[in-house]
Amino acid sequence: MPVAGIDVGSLTAEVVLLDRGEVLHYVIMPTGSNSKKAAGKAMETALKTAGLSRSDLKYIIATGYGRISIEFADKRVTEITCHGRGAFFLNPDVRTIIDIGGQDSKVILLSDQGRVLDFAMNDKCAAGTGRFLEVMAQALEVELSGLADLSDRATDIVSISSMCTVFAESEVVSLIAQGIPREDIARGLHQSIADRTAGMVRRVGLEEAVMITGGVAKNGAVVRALSEKLKTKIIVPPEPQIVGALGAAILAEEEIAK
Ligand SMILES: Nc1ncnc2c1ncn2[C@@H]1O[C@H](COP(=O)(O)OP(=O)(O)OP(=O)(O)O)[C@@H](O)[C@H]1O
Ligand SMILES: [Mg+2]
Repeated sequence: MPVAGIDVGSLTAEVVLLDRGEVLHYVIMPTGSNSKKAAGKAMETALKTAGLSRSDLKYIIATGYGRISIEFADKRVTEITCHGRGAFFLNPDVRTIIDIGGQDSKVILLSDQGRVLDFAMNDKCAAGTGRFLEVMAQALEVELSGLADLSDRATDIVSISSMCTVFAESEVVSLIAQGIPREDIARGLHQSIADRTAGMVRRVGLEEAVMITGGVAKNGAVVRALSEKLKTKIIVPPEPQIVGALGAAILAEEEIAK
């Protein structure tokens, strides 16, 4: 019988429908201002596309910062556990997971059994997260999806000294006004995310293999800068944004097997 995992993050909500270890369907939708409404809509959309109804689901596990507001969930589990579970399911060699979402970033260390051994988290400030990149893409007048390409065309790298998103934005605006190439600024911004993330990785200690999850994993320039900084290969799953919801769905299957 199918189960579901739902991850309601600060920017996006994901649902994964799973049946005996097989992903039946998944959706990614914007969270917007109402996480409860977004959760309901994401679930209905996923069920409709899969030709299922709510009563077909045996168990639902919710995760993400909006998990508390999801009344239809049977259980709520932290993002750390769910990302760990999802990543380990996709590749059992994974020991270090770097999740960079819209509002926070975290590094999770797994045992060879896939249990969470340690983690580090930045949820205090937007710097080093997807929101930071969104603000900077706007300042550079480029689409978010074009930020990595812009950065790849850089011939130099501008170091961004501000540690805070708001100050870094003013810094970027002033660099543009000084005629510094936008490519070089973009490169500097990606480097600053890589530097911050590498600091968190060092706190838990890096163990190979390393996987990146969350929406920012779709930005190739972040992945490349981070891979160079950490001097290791970084695995990017086919759909990095659903790993938390996938982990929740796997835990739901384990729950009904109990
Ligand atoms: N196609 C893309 N190219 C580049 N970046 C992208 C793309 N799609 C999403 N992102 C990045 O992913 C971020 C959102 O990531 P994600 O969906 O994992 O966040 P979230 O889970 O809602 O947030 P959190 O976990 O912090 O609550 C956006 O801020 C954006 O920077
Ligand atoms: Mg998230």
